[in-house]
Amino acid sequence: MRAGLWVITVVTMRKFAAKDGSVFILRNPRINDAEKCLAYVNSLVDEGAKILLNKRQTLKDERIWLRESMKKIKKGQVIYVVAEKDGAIAGICHIAKREYKMAHIADLGIGVVKKYRRIGLAQAIFNEALRKARGKGIEIVKLCVLADNAPAKNLYKKLGFKREAVLKDEIKCKCNYTNVISMSLYLGKQRKSGAADGV
Ligand SMILES: CC(C)(COP(=O)(O)OP(=O)(O)OC[C@H]1O[C@@H](n2cnc3c(N)ncnc32)[C@H](O)[C@@H]1OP(=O)(O)O)[C@@H](O)C(=O)NCCC(=O)NCCS
Repeated sequence: MRAGLWVITVVTMRKFAAKDGSVFILRNPRINDAEKCLAYVNSLVDEGAKILLNKRQTLKDERIWLRESMKKIKKGQVIYVVAEKDGAIAGICHIAKREYKMAHIADLGIGVVKKYRRIGLAQAIFNEALRKARGKGIEIVKLCVLADNAPAKNLYKKLGFKREAVLKDEIKCKCNYTNVISMSLYLGKQRKSGAADGV
């Protein structure tokens, strides 16, 4: 190696062995993942998962979403961790950094396909995303979860998230309204609210 030339090896792939012995590759998304991402997201839509999306996506939608996401990843605005098994996507976690006076906050999204649930995969992709988020100035991770999504609420509690507020009737699906709960996780020390906070 020439003097002054450094080769930096960035670890972009990790293996995760789940509770049941299944092994997953945890990695960044790639531009040619559109079909795999489509199968993943439509599996959540088809099972009626308690997520915001209420209609199947098309390959065109997914290609556009992936292209935009790749740009944001390059700019350091978002971190994605994809869990892959047998050539298919088993789960995705993202942490998206807000901007300007909210740049200390990032928003979390997570999902795991039905056949790989309850084996610790959500925890693993969250921990990997959090590991990648360290050192990027993120102090608080926030999320919104449907009030009737018990598995997700339990997961977030287990990961250390605390309930912040209830947003009434945020979701309307087939004439039924559902509340949304906002939760947050402080990565450092939590600031004490005072009179100046209006609380
Ligand atoms: C919520 C979700 C991501 C959990 O994924 P998962 O890989 O099954 O979660 P894990 O195996 O890592 O479980 C971690 C913890 O979460 C809780 N949990 C997960 N699924 C649960 C369930 N069905 N019932 C009760 N608690 C559950 C448990 O505390 C669990 O720990 P334990 O297994 O030691 O008891 C998954 O159910 C999912 O993708 N659901 C559909 C999409 C969705 O709701 N996304 C969140 C939107 S806010």
